Amino acid sequence: MIVLGIETTCDETAASVVERTGDVQGGVQDSVQGSVQGSVQGSVQGSVRGRILSNVVLSQIGEHAEFGGVVPEIAARAHVEALDRIIAKAMGEANVPFGALDGIAAAAGPGLIGGVIVGLTTAKAIALAHDKPLIAVNHLEAHALTARLTDAVEFPYCLFLASGGHTQILAVRGVGDYVRLGGTVDDAIGEAFDKTAKLLGLGYPGGPLVEKEAERGDPERFALPRPMKGRRDADFSLSGLKTALRIEAEKIAPLSDQDVADLCASFQQAVVDVVKDRLRSGLRMFRLRVDAPKALVCAGGVAANQAIRKILHKVAFEVGTNLVAPPPALCTDNGAMIAWAGAERLALGLTDGLDVAPRARWPLEQVTKGAGERAAAR
Ligand code: KG4
Ligand code: ZN
Repeated sequence: MIVLGIETTCDETAASVVERTGDVQGGVQDSVQGSVQGSVQGSVQGSVRGRILSNVVLSQIGEHAEFGGVVPEIAARAHVEALDRIIAKAMGEANVPFGALDGIAAAAGPGLIGGVIVGLTTAKAIALAHDKPLIAVNHLEAHALTARLTDAVEFPYCLFLASGGHTQILAVRGVGDYVRLGGTVDDAIGEAFDKTAKLLGLGYPGGPLVEKEAERGDPERFALPRPMKGRRDADFSLSGLKTALRIEAEKIAPLSDQDVADLCASFQQAVVDVVKDRLRSGLRMFRLRVDAPKALVCAGGVAANQAIRKILHKVAFEVGTNLVAPPPALCTDNGAMIAWAGAERLALGLTDGLDVAPRARWPLEQVTKGAGERAAAR
């Protein structure tokens, strides 16, 4: 099964062609490629294998940098200008003609609506012109399923998704079967890193810059809060931490280089402590509500942070499971994750009609097999 995936929900214009081998609808094994992994008798969903044939990502970071964040109007225009070229490049690198595709997948949300419209409309046009099934993919579902493309992880697993727009802990029980265990009530973790960087005049995107400064800073110099720590749920709140940091910075302004490094280190340490506590709680909930997780999986740009990765390893080890961290290029936004999620849905017969609407908001719990099945039946 070969699927083209298109991603335009934020500030990356991306397209990718991915091949999925393994189970097909109805549980029949397809071993044409000879690369079916795992037991045929075992979980059908666990016996899949993915191969990325091309993965083209054009970042718009340069166009948004001077504003310290993504500007929706600029993003949408940039997607319009670049997408045709990016898709042509992905198809060329994969060396696959449109006629050989089994489906066209696009992120239909959640995200900045202008960009989502560009990607989804383009996918509809390709699907119509080549008479191929369309799969409207939830961007968060794509992040959630990436570990199956890279590491053939079996269900159920616990997902920690932390990016510039999202911070969630989820139980992934199957394709279209997600339980939200917790999430942020205000800022996303990546957003908190970005705002910290902006406050300290470091630039955009802030995560890698704050991490670099933190390396030579004192994580104990500033007593910053650990919001939500100790609560029984798995929710996050980061806006108070950001405010506390601003107050500390204002107290000692003007800031020396060492002050900036110490503020970054103290901020990062507070985030690490919060992630540790909230994930422990999330994994406890996972065990109660689902089962023992087959893995702890991380996704989103924040997963590139080494201090956060270290704590994820530790927490996974504590509960007797492994951390699965896809390579950073597949943790951040890309087309391969959309193509893969599209292929996973297509394998279950879950396709969408050409009337499917783009969605700025689309919580993952609302992604069900049922919705896709109804669309497929239309
Ligand atoms: O997943 P992503 O590429 O895009 C979306 O937001 O969807 O994530 C980008 C976010 C930004 O907020 C960026 O500052 C953060 O991930 N990030 C990091 C690091 N690298 C990227 N945050 C902390 N430490 C990092 N090393
Ligand atoms: Zn994302």
